[in-house]
Amino acid sequence: MEVVIPGTGEKLKLTHTQIFINNEFIPSVSGKKFPVINPSTGEKLCDIEEGDKADVDKAVEAAKKAFELGSVWRLTDSSARGMLLYKLAQLIERDREHIAKLETLDNGKPYKDALDVDLPLVIKVFKYYAGWADKIQGKTIPIDGNFFTYTRHEPIGIVGQIIPWNFPLLMAAWKLAPALTTGNVVILKLAEQTPLTGLYLASLIKEAGFPPGVVNVIPGYGPTAGAAISEHMEIDKVAFTGSTEVGHLIMQAAGRTNLKNVTLELGGKSPNIILKDADIDYAVKMSHFALFFNQGQCCCAGSRCYVQEDIYDEFLKKTIEKAMTTKIGDPFCAGIGQGPQVDQIQFEKILGLVESGKKEGAKLECGGKRWGDKGYFIEPTIFSNVTDNMKIAKEEIFGPVMQIMKFKTIDEVIERGNATMYGLAASVFTTNIESALKIAHSLRAGTVWVNCYDVLEPQAPFGGYKMSGSGRELGEYGVQQYSEVKTVTIKVPQKNS
Ligand code: NAI
Ligand code: MG
Repeated sequence: MEVVIPGTGEKLKLTHTQIFINNEFIPSVSGKKFPVINPSTGEKLCDIEEGDKADVDKAVEAAKKAFELGSVWRLTDSSARGMLLYKLAQLIERDREHIAKLETLDNGKPYKDALDVDLPLVIKVFKYYAGWADKIQGKTIPIDGNFFTYTRHEPIGIVGQIIPWNFPLLMAAWKLAPALTTGNVVILKLAEQTPLTGLYLASLIKEAGFPPGVVNVIPGYGPTAGAAISEHMEIDKVAFTGSTEVGHLIMQAAGRTNLKNVTLELGGKSPNIILKDADIDYAVKMSHFALFFNQGQCCCAGSRCYVQEDIYDEFLKKTIEKAMTTKIGDPFCAGIGQGPQVDQIQFEKILGLVESGKKEGAKLECGGKRWGDKGYFIEPTIFSNVTDNMKIAKEEIFGPVMQIMKFKTIDEVIERGNATMYGLAASVFTTNIESALKIAHSLRAGTVWVNCYDVLEPQAPFGGYKMSGSGRELGEYGVQQYSEVKTVTIKVPQKNS
Protein backbone atom coordinates (compact mmCIF):
# COMPACT_ATOMS: atom_id res chain seq x y z
CA MET A 1 0.00 0.00 0.00
CA GLU A 2 1.22 3.50 -0.80
CA VAL A 3 0.46 6.83 0.81
CA VAL A 4 1.30 10.23 -0.56
CA ILE A 5 3.03 12.66 1.77
CA PRO A 6 0.96 15.84 1.55
CA GLY A 7 3.04 18.86 0.56
CA THR A 8 5.97 17.00 -0.95
CA GLY A 9 3.92 14.56 -3.05
CA GLU A 10 6.44 11.82 -2.22
CA LYS A 11 5.00 8.31 -2.22
CA LEU A 12 5.69 6.20 0.84
CA LYS A 13 5.17 2.44 0.98
CA LEU A 14 3.28 1.10 3.99
CA THR A 15 4.66 -2.41 4.08
CA HIS A 16 3.46 -3.61 7.46
CA THR A 17 -0.14 -3.28 8.65
CA GLN A 18 -0.73 -6.66 10.29
CA ILE A 19 -0.21 -8.25 13.69
CA PHE A 20 3.28 -9.70 14.29
CA ILE A 21 3.36 -13.08 16.07
CA ASN A 22 6.05 -15.76 15.80
CA ASN A 23 7.97 -13.62 13.28
CA GLU A 24 5.01 -13.61 10.89
CA PHE A 25 2.64 -10.82 9.91
CA ILE A 26 -0.90 -12.16 10.24
CA PRO A 27 -4.49 -10.87 10.22
CA SER A 28 -6.46 -10.43 13.44
CA VAL A 29 -8.46 -13.38 14.76
CA SER A 30 -11.66 -11.30 14.66
CA GLY A 31 -11.00 -10.04 11.14
CA LYS A 32 -11.41 -6.48 12.43
CA LYS A 33 -9.28 -3.54 11.36
CA PHE A 34 -8.95 0.02 12.62
CA PRO A 35 -8.11 3.24 10.78
CA VAL A 36 -4.91 5.22 11.18
CA ILE A 37 -5.40 8.95 10.78
CA ASN A 38 -2.92 11.53 9.54
CA PRO A 39 -3.13 14.24 12.24
CA SER A 40 -2.00 16.94 9.79
CA THR A 41 -5.09 16.47 7.67
CA GLY A 42 -7.56 14.43 9.71
CA GLU A 43 -7.72 11.97 6.79
CA LYS A 44 -7.31 8.21 6.92
CA LEU A 45 -3.85 6.89 6.02
CA CYS A 46 -4.62 3.18 6.07
CA ASP A 47 -6.29 0.35 7.99
CA ILE A 48 -4.43 -1.83 10.47
CA GLU A 49 -5.34 -5.30 11.74
CA GLU A 50 -6.92 -4.84 15.16
CA GLY A 51 -5.51 -7.02 17.91
CA ASP A 52 -7.76 -8.11 20.80
CA LYS A 53 -7.81 -10.76 23.54
CA ALA A 54 -7.67 -13.71 21.12
CA ASP A 55 -4.58 -12.24 19.43
CA VAL A 56 -2.94 -11.61 22.80
CA ASP A 57 -3.59 -15.27 23.69
CA LYS A 58 -1.91 -16.33 20.46
CA ALA A 59 1.06 -14.09 21.19
CA VAL A 60 1.34 -15.54 24.70
CA GLU A 61 1.45 -19.07 23.25
CA ALA A 62 4.23 -18.00 20.86
CA ALA A 63 6.15 -16.26 23.63
CA LYS A 64 5.77 -19.25 25.96
CA LYS A 65 7.25 -21.54 23.35
CA ALA A 66 10.11 -19.14 22.68
CA PHE A 67 10.88 -19.07 26.42
CA GLU A 68 10.79 -22.83 27.05
CA LEU A 69 13.91 -24.36 28.55
CA GLY A 70 16.10 -25.58 25.72
CA SER A 71 14.59 -23.19 23.15
CA VAL A 72 16.79 -21.36 20.68
CA TRP A 73 16.37 -18.12 22.64
CA ARG A 74 17.17 -19.71 26.02
CA LEU A 75 20.26 -21.33 24.50
CA THR A 76 21.47 -18.13 22.82
CA ASP A 77 24.76 -16.99 24.37
CA SER A 78 24.53 -13.69 26.18
CA SER A 79 27.08 -12.12 23.84
CA ALA A 80 25.03 -13.30 20.84
CA ARG A 81 21.95 -11.71 22.42
CA GLY A 82 23.89 -8.46 22.53
CA MET A 83 24.87 -8.84 18.87
CA LEU A 84 21.21 -9.30 17.88
CA LEU A 85 20.36 -6.02 19.58
CA TYR A 86 23.32 -4.35 17.90
CA LYS A 87 22.24 -5.69 14.52
CA LEU A 88 18.76 -4.33 15.13
CA ALA A 89 20.26 -0.90 15.87
CA GLN A 90 22.17 -1.06 12.58
CA LEU A 91 19.04 -1.97 10.61
CA ILE A 92 17.18 0.97 12.14
CA GLU A 93 20.12 3.19 11.21
CA ARG A 94 19.96 1.87 7.64
CA ASP A 95 16.24 2.69 7.34
CA ARG A 96 16.12 5.78 9.55
CA GLU A 97 14.79 8.18 6.91
CA HIS A 98 11.93 5.87 5.97
CA ILE A 99 11.10 5.24 9.64
CA ALA A 100 11.22 8.97 10.46
CA LYS A 101 8.78 9.64 7.60
CA LEU A 102 6.40 6.99 8.96
CA GLU A 103 6.66 8.55 12.42
CA THR A 104 5.85 12.04 11.13
CA LEU A 105 2.92 10.82 9.02
CA ASP A 106 1.47 8.91 11.94
CA ASN A 107 2.23 11.18 14.89
CA GLY A 108 2.51 14.62 13.27
CA LYS A 109 5.85 15.60 14.81
CA PRO A 110 8.14 17.74 12.61
CA TYR A 111 10.14 15.47 10.30
CA LYS A 112 13.36 17.11 11.45
CA ASP A 113 12.59 16.09 15.06
CA ALA A 114 11.68 12.54 14.06
CA LEU A 115 14.91 12.22 12.07
CA ASP A 116 17.34 14.13 14.29
CA VAL A 117 15.94 13.51 17.77
CA ASP A 118 13.75 10.38 17.97
CA LEU A 119 15.67 8.11 15.59
CA PRO A 120 19.20 8.77 16.92
CA LEU A 121 17.93 8.16 20.47
CA VAL A 122 16.23 4.93 19.42
CA ILE A 123 19.47 3.69 17.85
CA LYS A 124 21.49 4.71 20.92
CA VAL A 125 19.14 2.87 23.27
CA PHE A 126 19.46 -0.41 21.34
CA LYS A 127 23.25 -0.05 21.14
CA TYR A 128 23.51 0.80 24.84
CA TYR A 129 21.52 -2.27 25.88
CA ALA A 130 23.35 -4.45 23.34
CA GLY A 131 26.43 -3.82 25.49
CA TRP A 132 24.68 -4.96 28.67
CA ALA A 133 23.73 -8.48 27.51
CA ASP A 134 26.92 -10.23 28.67
CA LYS A 135 27.55 -8.01 31.70
CA ILE A 136 24.52 -8.88 33.80
CA GLN A 137 26.16 -10.42 36.82
CA GLY A 138 25.07 -11.75 40.17
CA LYS A 139 27.08 -11.82 43.37
CA THR A 140 28.70 -14.38 45.62
CA ILE A 141 27.57 -13.75 49.18
CA PRO A 142 29.33 -14.88 52.37
CA ILE A 143 26.31 -16.05 54.41
CA ASP A 144 26.72 -17.55 57.87
CA GLY A 145 27.50 -21.29 58.04
CA ASN A 146 29.29 -23.47 55.54
CA PHE A 147 27.59 -22.52 52.34
CA PHE A 148 28.39 -21.22 48.91
CA THR A 149 25.71 -18.67 48.05
CA TYR A 150 25.45 -16.86 44.76
CA THR A 151 22.80 -14.90 42.87
CA ARG A 152 21.75 -15.22 39.25
CA HIS A 153 19.97 -12.41 37.44
CA GLU A 154 17.48 -14.29 35.30
CA PRO A 155 14.86 -13.03 32.85
CA ILE A 156 11.39 -12.51 34.35
CA GLY A 157 9.69 -14.41 31.51
CA ILE A 158 6.82 -13.17 29.37
CA VAL A 159 6.69 -9.41 29.47
CA GLY A 160 3.75 -7.29 28.27
CA GLN A 161 4.63 -3.77 27.21
CA ILE A 162 2.00 -1.12 26.53
CA ILE A 163 3.22 2.08 24.97
CA PRO A 164 1.83 5.52 24.08
CA TRP A 165 1.78 7.62 20.92
CA ASN A 166 3.92 10.65 21.80
CA PHE A 167 7.28 9.03 20.99
CA PRO A 168 6.06 5.80 19.39
CA LEU A 169 9.33 4.23 18.31
CA LEU A 170 11.37 5.65 21.18
CA MET A 171 8.97 4.24 23.77
CA ALA A 172 9.17 0.86 22.02
CA ALA A 173 12.98 1.07 22.23
CA TRP A 174 13.00 2.06 25.94
CA LYS A 175 10.90 -1.01 26.67
CA LEU A 176 12.16 -3.65 24.24
CA ALA A 177 15.90 -3.09 24.61
CA PRO A 178 16.23 -3.76 28.37
CA ALA A 179 13.72 -6.63 28.19
CA LEU A 180 15.65 -8.37 25.41
CA THR A 181 19.16 -7.79 26.74
CA THR A 182 18.08 -9.63 29.91
CA GLY A 183 16.63 -12.52 27.87
CA ASN A 184 12.87 -12.01 28.29
CA VAL A 185 10.20 -12.59 25.64
CA VAL A 186 7.85 -9.76 24.81
CA ILE A 187 4.32 -8.88 23.76
CA LEU A 188 4.37 -5.23 22.75
CA LYS A 189 1.08 -3.38 22.36
CA LEU A 190 1.34 -0.28 20.20
CA ALA A 191 -0.80 2.80 20.74
CA GLU A 192 -3.85 2.77 18.47
CA GLN A 193 -3.00 6.27 17.20
CA THR A 194 0.52 5.38 16.03
CA PRO A 195 1.12 1.75 15.01
CA LEU A 196 3.22 2.30 11.87
CA THR A 197 6.79 2.50 13.16
CA GLY A 198 6.32 -0.29 15.71
CA LEU A 199 5.15 -2.66 12.98
CA TYR A 200 8.06 -1.65 10.76
CA LEU A 201 10.36 -2.33 13.72
CA ALA A 202 8.85 -5.81 13.97
CA SER A 203 10.03 -6.54 10.43
CA LEU A 204 13.56 -5.45 11.40
CA ILE A 205 13.45 -7.65 14.51
CA LYS A 206 12.82 -10.61 12.22
CA GLU A 207 15.52 -9.47 9.78
CA ALA A 208 18.03 -9.07 12.63
CA GLY A 209 17.55 -12.76 13.41
CA PHE A 210 15.65 -12.85 16.70
CA PRO A 211 14.02 -16.29 17.00
CA PRO A 212 10.24 -16.55 16.38
CA GLY A 213 8.06 -15.65 19.37
CA VAL A 214 10.70 -13.60 21.20
CA VAL A 215 9.03 -10.34 20.19
CA ASN A 216 5.34 -10.19 19.27
CA VAL A 217 3.78 -6.88 18.31
CA ILE A 218 0.08 -6.18 18.62
CA PRO A 219 -1.59 -3.04 17.30
CA GLY A 220 -4.94 -2.44 18.98
CA TYR A 221 -6.98 -0.51 21.52
CA GLY A 222 -6.35 -0.16 25.25
CA PRO A 223 -9.56 -1.49 26.84
CA THR A 224 -9.38 -4.60 24.61
CA ALA A 225 -5.81 -5.64 23.68
CA GLY A 226 -4.19 -3.58 26.46
CA ALA A 227 -6.51 -4.92 29.15
CA ALA A 228 -6.03 -8.50 27.88
CA ILE A 229 -2.30 -8.08 28.52
CA SER A 230 -2.62 -6.56 31.98
CA GLU A 231 -5.13 -9.27 33.03
CA HIS A 232 -3.32 -12.24 31.51
CA MET A 233 -2.49 -15.00 33.99
CA GLU A 234 0.56 -16.14 32.02
CA ILE A 235 2.18 -12.76 31.52
CA ASP A 236 4.80 -12.26 34.23
CA LYS A 237 5.31 -8.53 34.02
CA VAL A 238 3.68 -5.50 32.46
CA ALA A 239 5.48 -2.27 31.71
CA PHE A 240 3.33 0.70 30.81
CA THR A 241 3.77 4.30 29.72
CA GLY A 242 0.72 6.52 29.46
CA SER A 243 -1.93 8.23 31.55
CA THR A 244 -2.12 7.97 35.33
CA GLU A 245 -5.75 6.91 34.88
CA VAL A 246 -4.76 3.80 32.92
CA GLY A 247 -1.83 3.24 35.30
CA HIS A 248 -4.45 2.65 38.04
CA LEU A 249 -6.30 0.15 35.81
CA ILE A 250 -3.13 -1.78 35.05
CA MET A 251 -2.16 -2.11 38.71
CA GLN A 252 -5.71 -3.13 39.59
CA ALA A 253 -5.70 -5.76 36.84
CA ALA A 254 -2.40 -7.17 38.13
CA GLY A 255 -3.84 -7.17 41.65
CA ARG A 256 -6.98 -9.03 40.55
CA THR A 257 -5.10 -11.65 38.57
CA ASN A 258 -1.57 -13.01 38.98
CA LEU A 259 0.11 -10.13 40.87
CA LYS A 260 2.40 -9.63 37.92
CA ASN A 261 5.35 -7.32 38.31
CA VAL A 262 4.28 -3.82 37.20
CA THR A 263 6.36 -0.82 36.17
CA LEU A 264 4.65 2.43 35.30
CA GLU A 265 5.71 5.68 33.71
CA LEU A 266 2.77 8.04 33.99
CA GLY A 267 1.78 11.68 33.79
CA GLY A 268 3.51 14.75 35.13
CA LYS A 269 3.11 18.42 35.93
CA SER A 270 6.75 19.30 36.20
CA PRO A 271 7.86 22.55 37.83
CA ASN A 272 10.36 24.61 35.82
CA ILE A 273 11.86 27.15 38.22
CA ILE A 274 13.59 30.32 37.04
CA LEU A 275 15.57 32.18 39.71
CA LYS A 276 16.33 35.90 39.43
CA ASP A 277 20.06 35.24 38.94
CA ALA A 278 19.50 33.00 35.86
CA ASP A 279 20.69 33.96 32.39
CA ILE A 280 17.25 35.15 31.32
CA ASP A 281 17.58 34.79 27.55
CA TYR A 282 18.85 31.23 27.95
CA ALA A 283 16.12 30.40 30.48
CA VAL A 284 13.48 31.76 28.07
CA LYS A 285 14.82 29.60 25.24
CA MET A 286 15.03 26.46 27.40
CA SER A 287 11.65 27.00 29.06
CA HIS A 288 10.10 27.27 25.61
CA PHE A 289 11.74 23.98 24.65
CA ALA A 290 10.76 22.38 27.99
CA LEU A 291 7.08 22.98 27.26
CA PHE A 292 6.58 23.21 23.50
CA PHE A 293 8.86 20.39 22.31
CA ASN A 294 6.88 17.61 20.61
CA GLN A 295 3.74 19.83 20.51
CA GLY A 296 3.75 19.81 24.31
CA GLN A 297 3.11 16.06 24.30
CA CYS A 298 5.85 15.09 26.77
CA CYS A 299 5.27 13.38 30.09
CA CYS A 300 8.09 15.48 31.55
CA ALA A 301 6.99 18.81 29.97
CA GLY A 302 7.93 21.80 32.14
CA SER A 303 4.32 22.87 32.37
CA ARG A 304 4.40 24.79 35.65
CA CYS A 305 6.81 27.62 34.96
CA TYR A 306 7.65 29.41 38.24
CA VAL A 307 9.43 32.74 37.73
CA GLN A 308 10.93 34.80 40.56
CA GLU A 309 9.11 38.12 40.90
CA ASP A 310 12.17 40.32 40.18
CA ILE A 311 12.44 39.03 36.60
CA TYR A 312 8.83 38.00 36.01
CA ASP A 313 7.87 40.83 33.64
CA GLU A 314 10.99 40.55 31.49
CA PHE A 315 10.75 36.74 31.35
CA LEU A 316 7.07 36.88 30.41
CA LYS A 317 7.59 39.43 27.63
CA LYS A 318 10.47 37.47 26.09
CA THR A 319 8.65 34.15 26.46
CA ILE A 320 5.64 35.47 24.56
CA GLU A 321 7.92 36.88 21.83
CA LYS A 322 9.61 33.50 21.53
CA ALA A 323 6.30 31.61 21.25
CA MET A 324 5.06 34.00 18.56
CA THR A 325 8.05 33.14 16.34
CA THR A 326 7.13 29.42 16.19
CA LYS A 327 6.26 28.29 12.69
CA ILE A 328 3.28 25.93 12.71
CA GLY A 329 2.25 23.78 9.78
CA ASP A 330 2.84 20.68 7.68
CA PRO A 331 5.43 18.74 9.69
CA PHE A 332 7.18 17.67 6.49
CA CYS A 333 7.96 21.29 5.52
CA ALA A 334 11.40 22.65 6.39
CA GLY A 335 11.51 25.20 9.21
CA ILE A 336 8.32 23.98 10.88
CA GLY A 337 8.69 23.99 14.67
CA GLN A 338 5.25 22.71 15.60
CA GLY A 339 3.01 20.14 13.97
CA PRO A 340 -0.50 18.96 14.88
CA GLN A 341 -1.59 17.29 18.11
CA VAL A 342 -1.90 13.54 17.72
CA ASP A 343 -5.68 13.22 17.40
CA GLN A 344 -9.11 14.79 17.74
CA ILE A 345 -9.45 13.60 21.35
CA GLN A 346 -6.21 15.25 22.49
CA PHE A 347 -7.04 18.36 20.44
CA GLU A 348 -10.38 18.73 22.21
CA LYS A 349 -8.94 17.95 25.65
CA ILE A 350 -6.35 20.72 25.26
CA LEU A 351 -8.80 23.34 23.98
CA GLY A 352 -11.15 22.42 26.85
CA LEU A 353 -8.37 23.06 29.38
CA VAL A 354 -7.59 26.39 27.68
CA GLU A 355 -11.24 27.39 28.20
CA SER A 356 -11.02 26.38 31.88
CA GLY A 357 -7.91 28.58 32.27
CA LYS A 358 -9.78 31.57 30.85
CA LYS A 359 -12.81 30.91 33.07
CA GLU A 360 -10.72 30.56 36.23
CA GLY A 361 -9.10 33.96 35.64
CA ALA A 362 -5.68 33.21 34.18
CA LYS A 363 -4.53 35.77 31.59
CA LEU A 364 -4.31 34.41 28.05
CA GLU A 365 -1.22 36.12 26.65
CA CYS A 366 -1.17 34.47 23.24
CA GLY A 367 -2.68 31.59 21.26
CA GLY A 368 -5.57 29.61 22.72
CA LYS A 369 -7.17 28.65 19.42
CA ARG A 370 -7.07 26.15 16.63
CA TRP A 371 -4.57 26.92 13.87
CA GLY A 372 -5.70 26.43 10.27
CA ASP A 373 -8.87 24.68 9.16
CA LYS A 374 -7.82 21.04 8.94
CA GLY A 375 -5.83 18.67 11.09
CA TYR A 376 -5.33 19.07 14.84
CA PHE A 377 -3.13 22.15 15.09
CA ILE A 378 -3.25 24.45 18.13
CA GLU A 379 -1.52 27.82 18.40
CA PRO A 380 1.30 28.08 20.94
CA THR A 381 -0.51 29.27 24.04
CA ILE A 382 0.73 31.09 27.12
CA PHE A 383 -1.17 31.85 30.31
CA SER A 384 0.20 34.29 32.89
CA ASN A 385 -1.20 35.15 36.35
CA VAL A 386 -1.76 31.46 36.93
CA THR A 387 -2.40 30.34 40.50
CA ASP A 388 -1.68 26.89 41.90
CA ASN A 389 -5.34 25.98 42.46
CA MET A 390 -6.39 26.44 38.81
CA LYS A 391 -7.12 23.34 36.78
CA ILE A 392 -4.44 24.33 34.21
CA ALA A 393 -1.86 24.38 37.03
CA LYS A 394 -2.89 20.97 38.36
CA GLU A 395 -3.81 18.78 35.40
CA GLU A 396 -1.56 17.44 32.71
CA ILE A 397 -2.51 19.36 29.54
CA PHE A 398 -0.21 17.48 27.14
CA GLY A 399 -0.33 20.27 24.58
CA PRO A 400 1.31 23.57 23.61
CA VAL A 401 -0.03 25.46 26.62
CA MET A 402 2.35 27.10 29.10
CA GLN A 403 1.42 28.23 32.61
CA ILE A 404 3.50 31.02 34.14
CA MET A 405 3.42 31.66 37.88
CA LYS A 406 5.21 34.17 40.10
CA PHE A 407 7.11 33.37 43.31
CA LYS A 408 9.14 35.25 45.91
CA THR A 409 11.47 32.90 47.80
CA ILE A 410 13.23 29.59 47.20
CA ASP A 411 11.53 27.92 50.17
CA GLU A 412 8.16 29.01 48.82
CA VAL A 413 8.82 27.64 45.33
CA ILE A 414 10.04 24.31 46.71
CA GLU A 415 6.82 23.93 48.67
CA ARG A 416 4.67 24.91 45.70
CA GLY A 417 6.73 22.77 43.33
CA ASN A 418 6.06 19.74 45.54
CA ALA A 419 2.35 20.46 46.00
CA THR A 420 1.23 18.07 43.27
CA MET A 421 0.28 14.41 42.99
CA TYR A 422 2.94 14.07 40.30
CA GLY A 423 6.72 13.75 40.59
CA LEU A 424 8.22 12.96 37.23
CA ALA A 425 10.66 15.78 36.50
CA ALA A 426 11.66 19.30 37.53
CA SER A 427 14.18 21.91 36.52
CA VAL A 428 15.89 24.98 37.87
CA PHE A 429 17.65 27.80 36.06
CA THR A 430 20.16 29.70 38.20
CA THR A 431 23.81 30.73 38.36
CA ASN A 432 24.00 29.94 42.09
CA ILE A 433 25.20 26.40 42.81
CA GLU A 434 23.81 26.40 46.36
CA SER A 435 20.31 27.34 45.18
CA ALA A 436 20.56 24.72 42.42
CA LEU A 437 21.51 21.97 44.87
CA LYS A 438 18.97 22.98 47.49
CA ILE A 439 16.16 22.88 44.95
CA ALA A 440 17.40 19.74 43.19
CA HIS A 441 17.56 17.83 46.48
CA SER A 442 14.26 19.13 47.87
CA LEU A 443 11.93 18.44 44.97
CA ARG A 444 10.25 15.06 44.98
CA ALA A 445 10.79 14.19 41.32
CA GLY A 446 12.54 11.35 39.51
CA THR A 447 14.67 13.68 37.40
CA VAL A 448 15.88 17.22 38.09
CA TRP A 449 17.58 19.21 35.35
CA VAL A 450 19.75 22.18 36.30
CA ASN A 451 20.28 24.76 33.53
CA CYS A 452 19.09 22.25 30.93
CA TYR A 453 15.94 20.34 30.01
CA ASP A 454 14.90 17.02 28.44
CA VAL A 455 18.38 15.58 28.61
CA LEU A 456 17.41 11.92 28.22
CA GLU A 457 20.31 9.64 27.46
CA PRO A 458 20.18 5.83 27.65
CA GLN A 459 22.72 5.62 30.49
CA ALA A 460 20.69 7.60 33.05
CA PRO A 461 17.50 6.33 34.71
CA PHE A 462 14.12 7.99 34.19
CA GLY A 463 10.86 7.54 36.09
CA GLY A 464 8.54 9.05 38.61
CA TYR A 465 7.89 9.68 42.28
CA LYS A 466 4.33 9.65 43.60
CA MET A 467 1.60 9.21 40.94
CA SER A 468 4.05 9.67 38.09
CA GLY A 469 4.88 6.01 38.27
CA SER A 470 6.94 3.27 39.80
CA GLY A 471 10.19 1.75 38.71
CA ARG A 472 12.83 3.30 36.47
CA GLU A 473 13.62 2.90 32.80
CA LEU A 474 17.00 3.22 31.09
CA GLY A 475 20.49 2.68 32.45
CA GLU A 476 21.44 -0.13 34.80
CA TYR A 477 18.18 0.46 36.69
CA GLY A 478 16.34 -0.58 33.51
CA VAL A 479 18.22 -3.89 33.52
CA GLN A 480 17.11 -4.54 37.12
CA GLN A 481 13.46 -3.97 36.20
CA TYR A 482 13.61 -6.87 33.75
CA SER A 483 15.49 -9.35 35.95
CA GLU A 484 14.49 -11.76 38.67
CA VAL A 485 17.17 -12.38 41.27
CA LYS A 486 17.64 -16.02 42.17
CA THR A 487 19.65 -17.04 45.23
CA VAL A 488 21.40 -20.41 44.98
CA THR A 489 22.82 -21.84 48.21
CA ILE A 490 25.01 -24.94 48.27
CA LYS A 491 26.18 -26.71 51.39
CA VAL A 492 29.95 -27.02 51.39
CA PRO A 493 31.32 -30.00 53.32
CA GLN A 494 33.88 -29.00 55.96
CA LYS A 495 36.29 -31.03 58.05
CA ASN A 496 34.44 -32.44 61.12
CA SER A 497 30.96 -31.72 59.71
P1 NAI B 1 -3.68 6.15 27.61
O1 NAI B 1 -3.02 5.97 28.91
O2 NAI B 1 -5.12 5.77 27.48
O3 NAI B 1 -2.88 5.35 26.46
C1 NAI B 1 -1.58 4.85 26.56
C2 NAI B 1 -1.55 3.38 26.15
O4 NAI B 1 -2.36 2.64 27.05
C3 NAI B 1 -2.10 3.10 24.75
O5 NAI B 1 -1.38 2.06 24.16
C4 NAI B 1 -3.53 2.65 25.05
O6 NAI B 1 -4.08 1.84 24.05
C5 NAI B 1 -3.32 1.88 26.34
N1 NAI B 1 -4.53 1.71 27.17
C6 NAI B 1 -5.62 2.52 27.25
N2 NAI B 1 -6.53 2.00 28.09
C7 NAI B 1 -6.02 0.83 28.56
C8 NAI B 1 -6.49 -0.17 29.45
N3 NAI B 1 -7.69 -0.08 30.02
N4 NAI B 1 -5.69 -1.23 29.72
C9 NAI B 1 -4.47 -1.34 29.14
N5 NAI B 1 -3.99 -0.43 28.28
C10 NAI B 1 -4.73 0.65 27.98
O7 NAI B 1 -3.48 7.66 27.17
P2 NAI B 1 -4.32 8.49 26.09
O8 NAI B 1 -5.78 8.22 26.27
O9 NAI B 1 -3.74 8.25 24.77
O10 NAI B 1 -3.99 9.97 26.55
C11 NAI B 1 -4.65 10.54 27.68
C12 NAI B 1 -3.69 11.39 28.47
O11 NAI B 1 -2.68 10.56 29.02
C13 NAI B 1 -2.93 12.41 27.66
O12 NAI B 1 -3.67 13.58 27.45
C14 NAI B 1 -1.76 12.66 28.57
O13 NAI B 1 -2.12 13.54 29.60
C15 NAI B 1 -1.48 11.28 29.16
N6 NAI B 1 -0.40 10.57 28.45
C16 NAI B 1 0.81 10.46 29.05
C17 NAI B 1 1.86 9.87 28.38
C18 NAI B 1 3.20 9.76 28.99
O14 NAI B 1 4.19 9.77 28.26
N7 NAI B 1 3.32 9.57 30.29
C19 NAI B 1 1.71 9.37 27.02
C20 NAI B 1 0.37 9.46 26.49
C21 NAI B 1 -0.63 10.06 27.20
MG1 MG C 1 -6.97 6.65 26.99
